[in-house]
Amino acid sequence: MQTPWEYRYAHRIGKMGSSVIRELLKYAEQPEIISFAGGMPAPEVFPVKEFHEACNVVLAEHAAQALQYGPTEGHRPLREMIARHASRYMVEVAPDNILITSGSQQALDFIGRLFINRGDYIVVESPTYLGALQAWNAYGAQYIPVPMDEDGMLVDQLEEALRKGPKFIYVLPNFQNPSGGTLSLARRQQVIELADKYGVPIIEDDPYGKLRYEGEHLPSLVMLDSQYRNDNHGTYSGNVIYLSTFSKLLAPGLRLAWVIAPPEVIRRLIMTKQAADLHTSSFNQYVAYEVAKGGFLDEHVKVIRSTYKERRDVMLEMMEEVFPSEMRWTHPQGGMFLWGMMPEGVDATEVLKTALERKVAFVPGASFHPNGGGENTMRLNFSYCAPDTIREGISRLGLTLKEVLRKNGHKVT
Ligand SMILES: Cc1ncc(COP(=O)(O)O)c(C=O)c1O
Repeated sequence: MQTPWEYRYAHRIGKMGSSVIRELLKYAEQPEIISFAGGMPAPEVFPVKEFHEACNVVLAEHAAQALQYGPTEGHRPLREMIARHASRYMVEVAPDNILITSGSQQALDFIGRLFINRGDYIVVESPTYLGALQAWNAYGAQYIPVPMDEDGMLVDQLEEALRKGPKFIYVLPNFQNPSGGTLSLARRQQVIELADKYGVPIIEDDPYGKLRYEGEHLPSLVMLDSQYRNDNHGTYSGNVIYLSTFSKLLAPGLRLAWVIAPPEVIRRLIMTKQAADLHTSSFNQYVAYEVAKGGFLDEHVKVIRSTYKERRDVMLEMMEEVFPSEMRWTHPQGGMFLWGMMPEGVDATEVLKTALERKVAFVPGASFHPNGGGENTMRLNFSYCAPDTIREGISRLGLTLKEVLRKNGHKVT
């Protein structure tokens, strides 16, 4: 039915419609459903005691500033701490390279506002992070998907994509959401070189880089870019905009993240942020700084790693045990997600309908493909549910898959 509002919405709202998948996933929020659909951290790892103490300190010692309006670029000590950390582990940066945002999701939106004209092409991994597509659809972006495997984007296909003149390349190098894949070192180097050759900037989105459960840490694209340009002079001015967040290291409810970029990009992002929300919550920035300042994060991340590693292993072991042999899946070295692949022709949205009857949920993979495809794939989150719940959920999903595959004419063993 038409409402009086119908013809008042801006044109850009056109691409924000509801989808079958989104409607189905509403059921996944019901308490009796075991959901591998969300992308949530385990509440058990939230450092509640440390937050409690930090709130007391902030209110006792900094109430006048922490409850007041603050600078758009963010709380200076927090930016300095991030700069020190980045300079030690990643790339030499100054506080002028850093902007605090209300979650990385806000940074993605601002990047859209700053760079995307209607009809611009963005190179994305296929599949890619749904939240980025949602942010950029509003600005009329079009996508050039580059397929990936467990070692990330297939760079031999990147060059062809770059010849089409995209605005930027969007890469999730570590334990990608949704596939769990990690861009190999050799491919990282190639991405940097190709981006430079074609003069196309890179957006590096890295919420999960610290959540590695096996294998060696790989250098970030921003660091490789700075080495490539011999740009180690204390202020980064290269070709990469790097995003990371406290959502997975402390708590997503803080809505606290940061951008590392050349100072001229940061200045324009600051203007964009001023118009959007003036600044990120002063109180949350003070509290996060208080929690993180004494090296707490280095210790805390160990707890997160061991909790999620166990959950990943339980999920993988169960899948091995109960999934039909026609299924394939990734073995992520970190992060929060893995990716399941059914035989071609089996539709994950149909599987989800049957799965919901058995009270288990996941996200069908088609949503992560901006230009279609991936109908036979699914994303499973392993960070949120406790190990026993994962066992029960995966055994329900195994039964569901066997049932649907049989219906589709597969001889399931
Ligand atoms: C790849 C990616 N980018 C950005 C975000 C948004 O993170 P934030 O909570 O900082 O907004 C997420 C959250 O899941 C993510 O997976």
